[in-house]
Amino acid sequence: MNLRFAALIVGTALSGTGIAIGADTAADLMKETQRENLQKTVATCGTCHGVDGRSISPTFPNLAAQSAPYIELQLHAFKDQTRADPDAQAYMWGMASQLSDVLISDLAAYFSKQPAARNKGGDAALIALGSRIFTEGVPSRQVQACASCHGPHAEGLAVFPRLAGQHAPYLLKQLLVIQSVLRSAPVMHGVIKDLTREQMEAVAAYLESI
Ligand code: HEC
Ligand code: HEC
Repeated sequence: MNLRFAALIVGTALSGTGIAIGADTAADLMKETQRENLQKTVATCGTCHGVDGRSISPTFPNLAAQSAPYIELQLHAFKDQTRADPDAQAYMWGMASQLSDVLISDLAAYFSKQPAARNKGGDAALIALGSRIFTEGVPSRQVQACASCHGPHAEGLAVFPRLAGQHAPYLLKQLLVIQSVLRSAPVMHGVIKDLTREQMEAVAAYLESI
């Protein structure tokens, strides 16, 4: 029997006797186990997303500074297989199937607190077009301003994801799978149904640049 397990048993036994220190020890050990579990899992997630949530390859979205409620919602959507675009299935279904509710909320808190990824420059004309779409929408196509939900600086809030500094190829891919309803995102389908591919590329270039 290892020491920690022995201490847990002693702690549990004492907690019924009203000896406060025993109950505290048991609770501390559970917290410690939860912390170790989070650390180990972050190392796994980190092989793709970066342990600090800032990924190198644009296939893998940055998670750093992402809104915690949004991360939590997505992990549940991968786990219950309602986020079902091909990359979600290939990369995230297996990952999320192993996560408990407690671990999901710990992971969301952890990644949301990491400093955001650095922005990247790009084609100035494309970025200028994207900036206009983001703040004003495309009135002639009934596309609402993205800023009205994602925030004036694309910083995100609650279930509205942060988009600022995200990899442009990832953003473009999401706009395409959401528009074609391969990824279910009820609010977004209506908003972007008439956005052209060029307009998607522009808004993705703008978001990566801020
Ligand atoms: C093998 C690579 C890989 C690993 C490991 C991995 N992911 Fe992912 N993750 C991806 C890819 C690829 C996507 C994008 C899926 C898509 O395009 O729909 C993604 C998407 C996500 C998203 C959605 C982000 C967004 O902006 O919508 C979250 C949240 C996430 N992963 C969290 C995690 C967590 C937490 C772990 C560890 C438990 C993890 N991932 C492990 C590859 C990985
Ligand atoms: C009415 C509110 C609303 C508006 C307007 C809106 N969005 Fe969204 N957007 C959302 C919500 C909610 C989600 C999260 C969907 C989910 O949970 O899967 C989202 C998700 C996204 C994602 C996926 C992010 C990720 O990390 O995977 C992208 C990209 C995106 N929106 C871009 C845009 C762009 C570009 C515009 C403007 C043309 C826009 N959105 C306008 C509400 C909105």
